[in-house]
Amino acid sequence: YVIGIDLGTSAVKTVLVDTKGEICAVVSKNYPLLHEKTGYSEQNPEEWVQQTASALNELIANANIKPEDIEGISYSGQMHGLVLLDENYNLLRNAILWNDTRTTEQCHHLYKVIGEKRLLEITKNQALEGFTLPKLLWVKEYEPEIFEKTAVFMLPKDYLRFKMTGFIHSEYSDAAGTLLLNISKKKWDGELCQLVGVNINLCPPLVESSECIGNISESFSQKTGLATSTKVFAGGADNACGAIGAGILSPGETLCSIGTSGVVLSYEERNDRDFNGRVHYFNHGKENAFYTMGVTLSAGHSLSWFKENFAEKDTFEELLADLKNVPIGSNGLLFTPYLVGERTPHADATIRGSFIGMDASHKKRDFTRAVIEGITFSLSESIEIFRESGKEITSIVSIGGGAKNDHWLQIQADVFNAKIVKLSTEQGPALGAAMLAAYGCGWYNSLEECANVFITSSKTYYPNAEHVQVYKQLYELYKEVYLQTNDLSK
Ligand code: XUL
Repeated sequence: YVIGIDLGTSAVKTVLVDTKGEICAVVSKNYPLLHEKTGYSEQNPEEWVQQTASALNELIANANIKPEDIEGISYSGQMHGLVLLDENYNLLRNAILWNDTRTTEQCHHLYKVIGEKRLLEITKNQALEGFTLPKLLWVKEYEPEIFEKTAVFMLPKDYLRFKMTGFIHSEYSDAAGTLLLNISKKKWDGELCQLVGVNINLCPPLVESSECIGNISESFSQKTGLATSTKVFAGGADNACGAIGAGILSPGETLCSIGTSGVVLSYEERNDRDFNGRVHYFNHGKENAFYTMGVTLSAGHSLSWFKENFAEKDTFEELLADLKNVPIGSNGLLFTPYLVGERTPHADATIRGSFIGMDASHKKRDFTRAVIEGITFSLSESIEIFRESGKEITSIVSIGGGAKNDHWLQIQADVFNAKIVKLSTEQGPALGAAMLAAYGCGWYNSLEECANVFITSSKTYYPNAEHVQVYKQLYELYKEVYLQTNDLSK
């Protein structure tokens, strides 16, 4: 067996998988997000460790197997989060997460000292509030006594792995989201570190995602019942693992993943394409491969926000059952999902969302459909960037919350004007993590070979030509809303 651990934003999910890719057990545990101020989003890393230990305990008990039979473990993790440790490897503060937007000033500062062009050359990405380096610079400026004590910074799943093994590492797919990595050379960038006043020694050593970095430590074994013989593999960023778990391993393959945030991700073999920072460009969990990605910050979050505030008693299923009772275009209601700002294509932390076109005849169901259509339009803006750059996107694998409802999958096919493929047993990034362990253990010669065994598709949704045309017009209107409401939020 192998175990995949997905350290998410709202929960940790652990899955036990056998050599044929069958899912034998799944256990998830939640933890809270801390929003001390508007724009702040933090978590206590100790919670990650405790909830993971408790999930693993239950996973082993539920599966009723010998812990020694678990050959390997690997990870998928929420990206960009900043964890700071002192010289004794103790935590210095809560982690500042990917969806924290307090660092606009630091992003401007970065451009000032490095220059937008040079930053793009080195990291292939824009300076965005969510990335790790601006967070580090925020701590340097506002909590200098903590910055002074920092001996190493880590990303969320790297901290969890450290607490399970005693070894400190990062790997390329997550390091790519820090803005400190030269993604082509696969090295922490000395010039960048120097220009922003960050000692390069604060950056952890780098390995490949499928590399074995050691075994489960004695103390973590006692806490969980895991065996110390179990090998631990580095793992990857959640989006890289989502791609692996959906078989996005060769050119032309595209993924739409809707969780709290939503991403459209496209496999990229080369390290030298130029998207001018309009989409993220990161190292894949597959060796020497890359992916480009656009992000909608509040995808599933928009729906859960809507449910919590206006449809508390409904389950998501009940809420989405209404999609079929409302025509395309939600009877003239349009939603933009900018609840916490937007990444792609606007890179704008201060824009806020809107419902446009409210009419006295509108019912809750119209709002529900408008929310779903708005999220999907936002993701479509990333697809538009890929297509403009010459990528051909005709088929997209859809995973996450957005793949749980037939009507939403059809809306994706119609809005994206592409075939949408749903997978049969979809475990998302957790399965990608398990595949890294399976490949690392030598069960397969490549991730592709592993994907052939582990991943099967269950249903395909084809775009309906008439719907595609209607959505094209609505999409143009949707894009206008940002331009027209931009000033209101400033
Ligand atoms: C990607 C991003 C999010 C997180 C969610 O750039 O910020 O998708 O990885 O966990």
